[in-house]
Amino acid sequence: MEKGIAKAYELVSSSNEIVVLTGAGISAESGIPTYRGQEGLWRNYDPHELATPEAFFKNPKLVWEWYDSRRAIMKNAKPNPGHFAITALEKEKRDFTLITQNVDGLHFAAGTRNVIEIHGSLWEIKCTECEKIEKNYQVPIPELPPKCDACGGVMRPNTVWFGEIIPMERIDRCLFAIEQCDLLLIVGTSGVVEPTASMGLIAKKSEKPVVEINIEITPGTGLYDASVMGKSGEILPLLVESETSRNRM
Ligand code: APR
Repeated sequence: MEKGIAKAYELVSSSNEIVVLTGAGISAESGIPTYRGQEGLWRNYDPHELATPEAFFKNPKLVWEWYDSRRAIMKNAKPNPGHFAITALEKEKRDFTLITQNVDGLHFAAGTRNVIEIHGSLWEIKCTECEKIEKNYQVPIPELPPKCDACGGVMRPNTVWFGEIIPMERIDRCLFAIEQCDLLLIVGTSGVVEPTASMGLIAKKSEKPVVEINIEITPGTGLYDASVMGKSGEILPLLVESETSRNRM
């Protein structure tokens, strides 16, 4: 076994209370584009024109068209072995929390239950007037922008945009889970967007081991206890498979 994987395996196997933090990389093998990197969304689209409150109020239809096209990709996407390995971990461990920055809903589709969607969900829409939130799985949405059935206001995607504050209760839940855990496993995030970017260091400060899985180095590589270079859909099943067979022995 390569040194990084061996250490990661040892830490995953010996942990009882695990927090997993995921980013766009976990869904890359499901065909969902990441934000940064060579094929990243932010290479071809300007986030300031599509993912800010100002952009939405200037041109809600344009913003919705972009979100509608992303929903079409996500609707056809299936969870990959990385998502399923995380679900298996949840079943094995005494305590488990998944913090995801992803808005695609694939962790739920894979059966993971204790999920904090820190940036919200593309499958929820929220009224800009009365703040009513509803689930919406229509693809495409017939009329853009959709209107609130309670007050007629314009509905927006219930995601956190640049320049917006993440609800404090969500951050508290993440920090509480990290405080209680005995391992933080960080998967497929570039580690450049706060507050998640700092969660690895927060865990380290509380003397929790941190393992990272990514196809490239990140600002945290070298600071964590193990960094495994590879695709999450290949590495995670290896870690969990070994763990499953160990428990059967
Ligand atoms: N396995 C593991 N890691 C991968 C894989 C893979 N198959 N494919 C890509 N990666 C890694 C990349 O190397 C990169 O470090 O996933 C990371 C994706 O980084 P970003 O595109 O920046 O995604 P993320 O970290 O989730 O972005 C954070 O930025 O714009 C926002 O709101 C958006 O939630 C998002 C936030």
